[in-house]
Amino acid sequence: MSTTTAEVSPVVTVTGTRPKARMALDGSPTNYGDFRDALNRDGYAVIKSAIPLDRATKYADEFYNYLEGFGLGYRRDDPSTVKPSTLPVINEKGMILAYGVTHEKWVWDIRGEPSVVDTFAKVYGDDDLIVSFDVVNVQFSNRKEMPENKNDLLTRHSKPWPHQDQDPAKPGFRCLQGLVNLNPCGPDDGGLIVCPGGHKISEQFHSEMANEPRIPAWTPEWFGFTDNGIKWLADHGLKWVKVCAEPGDLIVWDSRVPHYNLPPSGKNDRLAVYTCYMPVADASQEDLVRKKKAFEARLGTTHWPNAVHVGTNVAMRNGKPCPKSRERPVQEPILNEMTFKLTGIPYIKQEA
Ligand SMILES: [Fe+2]
Repeated sequence: MSTTTAEVSPVVTVTGTRPKARMALDGSPTNYGDFRDALNRDGYAVIKSAIPLDRATKYADEFYNYLEGFGLGYRRDDPSTVKPSTLPVINEKGMILAYGVTHEKWVWDIRGEPSVVDTFAKVYGDDDLIVSFDVVNVQFSNRKEMPENKNDLLTRHSKPWPHQDQDPAKPGFRCLQGLVNLNPCGPDDGGLIVCPGGHKISEQFHSEMANEPRIPAWTPEWFGFTDNGIKWLADHGLKWVKVCAEPGDLIVWDSRVPHYNLPPSGKNDRLAVYTCYMPVADASQEDLVRKKKAFEARLGTTHWPNAVHVGTNVAMRNGKPCPKSRERPVQEPILNEMTFKLTGIPYIKQEA
């Protein structure tokens, strides 16, 4: 079935047949025989070829088409065009936050990739999922004129932003984050840096480091590691690892695993789309109504699929609204039955 957002399906209650049994993600040995064993042990995993290479290549092409389509002068085949004035507004971490990009058809097509969705369904033991309206990420290999991101623990630069995306006051496994990688992403190609095993000792960390001053955060669901916090992790034997991936690979990680990202130093651009799902059972009806409004207004959220925070489509360029700001995607999403469920809309019992 194809549908647009204007259609409202009947209320869905429970549609999955999978027994609801969420992984503990406590680091104890498991014997799933798939990515879940690494995920439980390390707190992160790479699911190879979650998207077939031909479709991953197509999505990368659509990503570049999107960037060129702003008509500001960026061309993928001309590195001299990589500069802020030729591109949509991209923050220092490579994220495009506005322009309705999170609801572009190609982004929704990625969210609806069956193996991507199934990965999260396996972890949560639940087929009834909702997905975040999170951002896309592009970090250029030729970025001399792009905003600097000084966060490299591997080369010992300062100003770290390694963090957990989870409130320390709410311990335990709550959220699995993910990104679909669309370009070759080797050791020099930037991307995700993780601290394997950090999920297992997160509670111990917050207990022992309770008196450490907190880095200011705009949401309680973000915890930044200070230099002392980073030292604590090292003192407990944890190391930082650059996660490498091929086009079409899905990377997932427990929100408690310390992580950050790096721009590429090699020749490949980093292209990624964040994909994060959670059981609809974890969201309230109020959450779902807020999420529906965000969807209908084509607004973005953080990685939390229950739409705790809803963003704006107006990008600020040099202190003024970007003239290229837009309220709707260039290409509206075309939802199928599964992706429509992922909006959460069919699970709304009544209009608030
Ligand atoms: Fe994060």
